[in-house]
Amino acid sequence: MKEQGTAGTKKYWNAFYKQNVNLPKSSFCSKVQETLTSESFVVDIGCGSGRDTFAFASSGVDAIGIDGSEEAIGLNKSKAEELLLSSKVSFIALDLCKSSDLRNLFEELKNQGIEKQKHLVLYLRFLLHAIDDKTEKTLLETISDVFPQGTKFAAEFRTKEDEQLNKIYDNHYRRFVDTDQLIPDLESKGFEINSFCKGTGLSIYKGEDPFLARVFATKL
Ligand SMILES: C[S@@+](CC[C@H](N)C(=O)[O-])C[C@H]1O[C@@H](n2cnc3c(N)ncnc32)[C@H](O)[C@@H]1O
Repeated sequence: MKEQGTAGTKKYWNAFYKQNVNLPKSSFCSKVQETLTSESFVVDIGCGSGRDTFAFASSGVDAIGIDGSEEAIGLNKSKAEELLLSSKVSFIALDLCKSSDLRNLFEELKNQGIEKQKHLVLYLRFLLHAIDDKTEKTLLETISDVFPQGTKFAAEFRTKEDEQLNKIYDNHYRRFVDTDQLIPDLESKGFEINSFCKGTGLSIYKGEDPFLARVFATKL
C-alpha cells in the first residue's frame, strides 16, 4: 500500500534517513554546478540527505537545504559542523504544505540574497514527484510571489512517461508529473523557460534508469 498524506510521507522519509543515507552528488547537481558562480546562493528545496547541498557548499557556493524530514535535517546540521562547512551551508526543517511558514522563509531568503548581493538559484531535485498537486501549487505560487526577477529555477523530476517503466520502488508517495501542464504553469507564474529536456539516461541508479525531465527557468 502506498502511504498517503503528509504524515505518512514524513514518517517514510524520517525512517529512510535514519539509515544514514550517504549518496554521492547527483548528475543533475553537476549539471547545475556548471551554471553557478561564487555569487550564487542555492536554495535546495527537498534536500533530503543534503548530498547535493553539501556538494554546492564544498565547491564554495552558499547553500541552504530545506526538507520536511527532521531526521534528515538533524543529520545534515551535524554533518555541516563536522565538515566545518557551517559558514557555507545551513539546513532548515519545513513542511512545504505550511504556506505561511514557507512564505516567511522564502521572504527571509530573498532578503538574505539582496543583502549579500547573491544570485538566487532554486534547486529542486526529485522533489516535484515526491509532493502532491496541492503542495506543488502552494510551492510554485509562493516561489512566484516572493522571489525577485532574475531568480533561477532548476528542477529534475519523474514524468508521466516514467509510470510504465520498471523501477525499484518501496511504496512511498510518488506522483508522475505531466510536463504539458507544468511548463505552461511555470510560464503563467512569470518564468521564462531557458531549457527543457526529458528522457532516460539522466540519472541511472542501482540499475534503474528513470524517465525524467529537467527544467531550467528564470523569473522575469
Ligand atoms: C526523493 S527525495 C529527494 C532528496 C534529494 N533532493 C535527492 O535528490 O537525493 C524527496 C524529498 O522531499 C522531501 N519532502 C517530501 N514531501 C515534503 C514536504 N511536504 N515538505 C518538505 N519536504 C518534503 C522528503 O523528505 C525527501 O527528502
